Amino acid sequence: MTETSRRVELNGKSITIDDAMREAIRAELPEIDWIDDAKLRGDVTDAWAAAVASSNLESVTAMKPSGNYDSRPLKHGSQADHIRSVTRLAIKIAEEMDQLMPDFRYDRDLLIAGCLCHDIGKVWEFDPVNVERWKADPRRAGMPSIRHPAYGAHICLTMGLPEAVAHMAAAHSGEGELLVRSLENTILHWADYTFWRVLEAGGQLVDDDTWLGGLTSGRAGQPIK
Ligand SMILES: [Fe+2]
Repeated sequence: MTETSRRVELNGKSITIDDAMREAIRAELPEIDWIDDAKLRGDVTDAWAAAVASSNLESVTAMKPSGNYDSRPLKHGSQADHIRSVTRLAIKIAEEMDQLMPDFRYDRDLLIAGCLCHDIGKVWEFDPVNVERWKADPRRAGMPSIRHPAYGAHICLTMGLPEAVAHMAAAHSGEGELLVRSLENTILHWADYTFWRVLEAGGQLVDDDTWLGGLTSGRAGQPIK
């Protein structure tokens, strides 16, 4: 695949996305190739490449593997594994309903793109530099100042992703209780919660979170509404 470099402004940084960055993202999130539409596929790749480059993180995999910055992480597996698994779970849900209900319709490309981008804002919420700054003075900018759904929507819109994908980043979690979720976001929401709740019940989250000296609230992957 030949592509040209693209320059974007994100988090106060001027970022030039090149093919090496894109290749690294596609290696971490191979389900990107499941997106049929070439532009959407490229935009999802570029969004992640820019998101990682805008942070102090080296990769998707480098992020703490948890639902929130202060919730218990996975014993095994990475944040990339979470995003990939949620995408595959969501597709399975949609395919099951599609096979069962003759008039069930969903947008497969949008579902995959939205699932792959749903936690893209974690590059802000899970950036150790940000978390240390918030810990030092929680009343200055908040703790976290912006949760990953809001920052994820910011990235999606900045990178020119469809409104429906930005909506999935913005409202897959508790924020979505304040609005009507799209069909694809409803599938994502339940796939995401299933991932964390099932693994919590299966004893797959660490008991004692020691990340950055210990922040855990004891919660599982998602905020309690
Ligand atoms: Fe998630």
